[in-house]
Amino acid sequence: LQTLPPLQLARKYFELFPEQKDPVWQNPCDDRRHRDIWSRDKTCDPLPKFLVVGPQKTGTTALYLFLLMHPYIKSNFPNPKTFEEVQFFNGNNYHKGIDWYINFFPYPSNASSDFLFEKSANYFSSEEAPKRVAALLPKAKIITILIDPSDRAYFWYQHQRSHEDPAALKFSFYEVISAGNSANSELLALQRRCLIPGCYASHIERWLTYFPPSQLLIIDGQHLRSEPALIMDEVQKFLGVSPYYNYTEALTFSPQKGFWCQLLDGGKTKCLGKNKSRKYPTMDLESRAFLSSFYRDHNIELSKLLHRLGLPLPSWLRQELQKCF
Ligand code: A3P
Repeated sequence: LQTLPPLQLARKYFELFPEQKDPVWQNPCDDRRHRDIWSRDKTCDPLPKFLVVGPQKTGTTALYLFLLMHPYIKSNFPNPKTFEEVQFFNGNNYHKGIDWYINFFPYPSNASSDFLFEKSANYFSSEEAPKRVAALLPKAKIITILIDPSDRAYFWYQHQRSHEDPAALKFSFYEVISAGNSANSELLALQRRCLIPGCYASHIERWLTYFPPSQLLIIDGQHLRSEPALIMDEVQKFLGVSPYYNYTEALTFSPQKGFWCQLLDGGKTKCLGKNKSRKYPTMDLESRAFLSSFYRDHNIELSKLLHRLGLPLPSWLRQELQKCF
């Protein structure tokens, strides 16, 4: 038997098993051997029980706000670097390790009744996230929200403009979505981020490779926007959270905002900030037609997937499918 000093040994190991350079963190509490070598003062209790995975611009912040109204549902401390979201499973933060992740969560006062969660809207379309989430949080419930992917792309583009993304300011929406392969890399990168999250079926299939359908809730974003109390009842049932929280009494429609908001004591309301629910010019018809055609096959795949899962088709999807035949 031969051995080497630790650093050389590690180098040798990764020469032999290069694929293991990219770690996959498993839940230390699922395996006694891991638990035994873990520090005694560490615990898995602050790990989240469910994730809101996105995609961006579908109403994830509204859902986040509504969830936090429930007395037993709690979220992470904000990450100042990533607009409050933790964004652990999708990018380089993952390499910071489990302790880095756990430290974002408050210690639950009662681990069985408290429901910790995080919302990171980029998880939905991330190649890595489903596998990584399944390794660390195999029992987690996953919530996603879908709106018409053409609208999502347009809202996302407008969002980038309001954050003064140079490429979004430079190019029109139509230029972004229709850019060909020979366009410059800045434009193509923006196009990818604009269009790819809307290929819903392929992303959901990836989540379903790692999670059973019973752990996945697909919310119709249009419905969340028009009847949030009804959707929140569905969410509570899906999560199995108790006591039941009456959202019909706790939400109120704000005619000025055009959205449902939290009703506070004394009749005041708490709506999402100015950076949500902006008013944009409506999408031009050329872009709408381009996107309908771009998402055509993806939407057909989505309808088959929803059918397979025994779920109803959202009205935008029915309308898009009618255009196909
Ligand atoms: P805009 O910000 O373009 O108006 P996300 O939080 O996932 O980025 O989604 C933002 C979108 O959520 C908003 O788009 C808005 O259309 C939608 N939304 C749904 N319900 C809402 C609510 N109650 N209050 C504000 N925005 C809501």
